[in-house]
Amino acid sequence: MTTRNERVKAIKEAGYNTFLLKSEDVYIDLLTDSGTNAMSDQQWSAFMLGDEAYAGSKSYYNMEAAIQKYYGYKYIIPTHQGRGAENILSKILIKKGDIVPGNMYFTTTRLHQELAGGTFKDIIIDEAHDAQSLHPFKGNVDINKLEMLVNEYGAERISYISIATNVNMAGGQPISMANLKELRAYTLKHGIRIIHDMTRVAENAYFIQQREEGYETKKIAEIVREICDNTDGATMSAKKDALVNIGGFLATNEWDVYEEARNLVVVYEGLHTYGGLAGRDMEAIAVGIRESLDDNHQHARVGQVEYLGHKMMEFGIPIVQPIGGHGIFVDAKAFLPHLTQDQFPAQTLAAEVYIDSGVRTMERGIVSAGRNDKGENHYPKLELVRFTLPRRVYTQAHMDVIAESVANVYDRRKKIKGLEMIYEPKYLRFFQARFKKL
Ligand code: F0G
Repeated sequence: MTTRNERVKAIKEAGYNTFLLKSEDVYIDLLTDSGTNAMSDQQWSAFMLGDEAYAGSKSYYNMEAAIQKYYGYKYIIPTHQGRGAENILSKILIKKGDIVPGNMYFTTTRLHQELAGGTFKDIIIDEAHDAQSLHPFKGNVDINKLEMLVNEYGAERISYISIATNVNMAGGQPISMANLKELRAYTLKHGIRIIHDMTRVAENAYFIQQREEGYETKKIAEIVREICDNTDGATMSAKKDALVNIGGFLATNEWDVYEEARNLVVVYEGLHTYGGLAGRDMEAIAVGIRESLDDNHQHARVGQVEYLGHKMMEFGIPIVQPIGGHGIFVDAKAFLPHLTQDQFPAQTLAAEVYIDSGVRTMERGIVSAGRNDKGENHYPKLELVRFTLPRRVYTQAHMDVIAESVANVYDRRKKIKGLEMIYEPKYLRFFQARFKKL
């Protein structure tokens, strides 16, 4: 625990960027659900069995078998984390001038698409960009938007369709099975691949089970498998759903893509049977995948997120609804309506919450959105602060502390001034940008 004065000093020294705080100055860490999960007894036991052979490790085959069994993809390449897989896949599938449609951008995913010469196009339904819309599947694709791109550029210039399950930047919002199947039928007709960002696929499956007709009695494991079966390949950050501290992979059902990936991974990550991971990491992933598909686990996990969301709503705090899978997304535009988007309302609010209680959150607004190829700022409709919950780490009492702190800040919101950016890195600026108080 720190005092308010210590926190005022710490956040100033961090350039009002929560990524630049030291973790020892943080009381409850909701920066991300990535790599911050608590591993189970089963995972730690498996960890001890890691086979650290450079080539052909037993642990690789255990991880491969788990992915094949639960997700159904044929060929697997381990990577150090999700973006390692995105880099390799983008290099293989994207040609200069290609278009990559997707259900909302993700920061690292879009950057790798752009670095490979592609242009990302958002084809998510309009409701996803509206913090107040109660649409149950805000991760859905608007097939008309896709059709317009196919008509304009031709299917051959579309490298693949990038489909995230439980769309992070929309607030942890699911895609429905019906929408995915409609998309699948469309892409089969046009010969376009679907590449699945399956980082939070189990959380998406939980929402399908809760909300979609015909899935009420299906197990999360069955739903996850059905999602994967409607796609051609995947990238995954195992640091989220799969409950580990580091790791990821690329999966494909196509031999040609696998062959190229198996070669490229040697350049960027490591041999194709470890891809930047220790054997013990691969063992923990294999167990984590299985645990993530447990219905009770997902009920408890998303249930905790819902508890926090309802608590905030009781205090009148504007949040993205419906409540998402991995965190609560506070609507900073509605929270601080007196700030323009150029004064970074979400960045400001994240800093204020930290000062109030030592709770660390993350900006997901104009700073995260970055600039276009002409160097102009993107102005995303959603200007959010993400309160991301690590899995199996915090208690309900922590949730109360968090909600009460946001309520404190809400009470004095009218007095809060915005920020000015004083240092901007070239890539993924939100990680390292610095600000000063206006
Ligand atoms: N895709 C999604 C949907 C993600 O949320 C992330 C990471 C990645 C890909 C990249 O994976 O970090 O393992 O390289 N999201 C983290 C977050 C960083 O905090 O949301 P990575």
